[in-house]
Amino acid sequence: MNAHSARRSTRWLPDPATVDEYRTFFATAARNPAMLGAATPTSSAVAATVAQVVPTTGTPVVVELGPGTGSLSCGIQERLPQGARHVGIELNEDLVAHLRTHKPWLEVVHGNAEELHKVLADLQIDRVDAVVSSIPWSLLPDDTQDHILGQVADALVPHGAFTALTYLTALYREGGKKFRRRLGATFDEVLTHTTWLNFPPALHYLCRRPLSVDKRVITSA
Ligand SMILES: C[S@@+](CC[C@H](N)C(=O)[O-])C[C@H]1O[C@@H](n2cnc3c(N)ncnc32)[C@H](O)[C@@H]1O
Repeated sequence: MNAHSARRSTRWLPDPATVDEYRTFFATAARNPAMLGAATPTSSAVAATVAQVVPTTGTPVVVELGPGTGSLSCGIQERLPQGARHVGIELNEDLVAHLRTHKPWLEVVHGNAEELHKVLADLQIDRVDAVVSSIPWSLLPDDTQDHILGQVADALVPHGAFTALTYLTALYREGGKKFRRRLGATFDEVLTHTTWLNFPPALHYLCRRPLSVDKRVITSA
């Protein structure tokens, strides 16, 4: 077989890095379904949409909550200018190991999004321009949702943005409805976008202008 026909015969094979990403994701999801809260890694189309909150100029600091195998991280990284910081806080240690091997450009912290302020202090970060999250918000108890969202709002600069990637199906869960109400109570502007070409359809929240703590009125949560 010459080089040309060898290339042709492998053209339809998936890229080994993608195979490895899916293998790691499925193996981890099988062991910890609630921690992952998703059936597959996010598609690159969804990642590109979500990553639009990331500034392409200056020296922004972007924090990703729950980078998993790094599907969103790649979309973020493609936009980031030179000198930016991109920190990922990931709870699952197998995924942390995967990220450290396959996405060496990401500052990965093995930790819990609930410890956002401590993580930022440890990394000597005092301002965050964007927070991108794909943790399973609708499965989190009320006080945990409050605790993490409050820290996100406090960490963001006034013109900063927060985005949460969830699934349309999460809106049928009590936790998903509460999360939506909490976003409205924490940010001045909350927009939604649905990506139907994803399984299940993805629902993104895009939130801007975090409210000061005295203005965050959480009702009927
Ligand atoms: C739905 S997966 C998303 C993974 C990836 N960002 C993607 O879009 O394919 C959720 C990720 O959040 C992580 N996670 C869940 N709860 C977390 C928490 N409290 N702190 C940090 N990471 C968390 C899970 O381990 C998992 O990697």
